[in-house]
Amino acid sequence: MAEADINAGSPVLDALINRASMPPRLFSDAAPARADVEQMLKAAMSAPDHGAVRPWRFHLIEGEARNRLGNLFAEVLLDRDPFATTTAIEKAKARPLRAPLIITVCAKVDPSRASKIPIVEQVVTVGIAMEHLVIAAQAMGYGAIILTGSNAYAGKVRSAFGLDREDELLGFVYIGCADEPAPAKERPDAAEYTSEWNG
Ligand SMILES: Cc1cc2nc3c(=O)[nH]c(=O)nc-3n(C[C@H](O)[C@H](O)[C@H](O)COP(=O)(O)O)c2cc1C
Repeated sequence: MAEADINAGSPVLDALINRASMPPRLFSDAAPARADVEQMLKAAMSAPDHGAVRPWRFHLIEGEARNRLGNLFAEVLLDRDPFATTTAIEKAKARPLRAPLIITVCAKVDPSRASKIPIVEQVVTVGIAMEHLVIAAQAMGYGAIILTGSNAYAGKVRSAFGLDREDELLGFVYIGCADEPAPAKERPDAAEYTSEWNG
């Protein structure tokens, strides 16, 4: 089939090729509808999952809970730098307030299955689920962006989300409405990263 025919009328392909993250400063206060959030999570459920481990965990953070996450970020900052300035502390506290909804995406891996399904595969599954969620959000007209920063790796934050040693916090997905589309980006040329492998 000619390329033009394959591409014609494929909203999925269009969503994939044109996906772009929403800068947090563009989010308004309007929260995504609960039914839409459920659709995003449903989209995450079709991530390829070797052995059906279902290692994904999604934590929805809205309203006042965002302040509690911000306080945790501030604690982490103060643990790292007891002399952090008031401005830096306030900035850490305000981070989660940049979007009406944050979905923290974690990988709760099953080490007892690692001989057949290596931990890396279990984590990859959750990464894919996270991206399904992001693309679903965007397909429904929301903006989304995956953020981590050092908070995602801090012991206190990991325990707050119930993570054990081999588990991972893959991202805080900030989701919301915006009055303008996510800025389009120049994408790399796939050919530069592609080769024919002949052994
Ligand atoms: C796991 C993961 C963590 C990320 N963490 C951050 C982050 O902490 N800060 C940041 O500016 N971008 C982060 N990004 C990148 C943004 O989500 C986004 O991809 C980037 O701003 C480029 O925009 P684009 O997605 O439209 O290409 C992360 C991406 C991934 C996949």
